[in-house]
Amino acid sequence: MRTRIVGVDAIDTIVDALAEGGPVALPTETVYGLAAPAADPEAVRRIFEVKGRPADNPLIVHVADARAAFDLTREIPGYARRLAEAFWPGPLTLVLPGAVDWPWVQADHPTLAVRVPAPEWLRTVLRRSGPLAAPSANRSGGPSPTTAEHCRQDLGGRIPLIVDGGACPGGMESTVVDCTGEHPVILRPGPITDADLRRAMGVQAAETTPSGVPPLESGPPSRAPSPGTRHPHYRPRARVILVEDAGTVTCDDCMVIAPSPGAGVAHPRSYRSLEDLGRHLYAWLREADALGARTIYVQRVPEGGLGTALMNRLRKAAGEG
Ligand code: TXA
Ligand code: MG
Repeated sequence: MRTRIVGVDAIDTIVDALAEGGPVALPTETVYGLAAPAADPEAVRRIFEVKGRPADNPLIVHVADARAAFDLTREIPGYARRLAEAFWPGPLTLVLPGAVDWPWVQADHPTLAVRVPAPEWLRTVLRRSGPLAAPSANRSGGPSPTTAEHCRQDLGGRIPLIVDGGACPGGMESTVVDCTGEHPVILRPGPITDADLRRAMGVQAAETTPSGVPPLESGPPSRAPSPGTRHPHYRPRARVILVEDAGTVTCDDCMVIAPSPGAGVAHPRSYRSLEDLGRHLYAWLREADALGARTIYVQRVPEGGLGTALMNRLRKAAGEG
């Protein structure tokens, strides 16, 4: 199959490709997604096939606005509405009981994950195409794509269309919050932090815990992490090793990712802030493979806030869980 590449202004072309089932790789404010009409079982099945995604891992449904999200879900607690109000459009995914029965999207779970993505052109597409199921547009197990070129490398020749919107501004997947209980539970930490969520719900920042455990949990610890978290994730071919202090690492053929990598490193990658690291991390993991690096040393970042989300991705990239 020939894969066409168009810009975000080619709305008619994008809507047409989706109407034919897609799947279409397209940029969001977090990472590139692989989108198909959520109500179309055959189109959604193609997403799983093209990605090589395990069948038990449900997809996020993207919609144009909060009303569309709450039309697809039910038993919506007040706190979920407050979170939607505070963070949509944006990198927050809410898991709620489904008002639809889309087992091909929900992977036979009773819940549905919904999110309103930020880009204006994408919400224009969503208003015309209806709800779109979209996981990250990588081959299953690898780092998420943050450019159209990453999508082409992973899926070129296997999908009809890639929408090139440049590099994603965020670079890390949305925060996933389970809203099926009395209190919200973070299933996947992300750009909207624990403190952000608490603030939006009117909880004092002083009550925020800095740990990586689901900090909003105060009910029974019965709600499992996202089904997808059991599978390998974010892993390049190179071996990822997390270190306390990368300043002392030297090597001939490795990449070192740290605020200030030491001298004598083949492929040093430095960053100025955790936001900056989040924006570049997946691109660097992919670049290491392209450069033939055998090992990627990454300096650990402090837990808390965005650091919790980054350490979650880094531990998985390193095969630590
Ligand atoms: O930023 C993002 O969230 C990107 C962009 C494209 O929107 N999407 C993304 O999708 O990261 P994916 O499929 O790579 O990750 C979705 C996560 C998985 O861990 C999945 O298990 C979880 O959300 N998830 C989806 N539906 C769920 C549900 N009903 N209950 C619990 N977790 C769910
Ligand atoms: Mg993914």
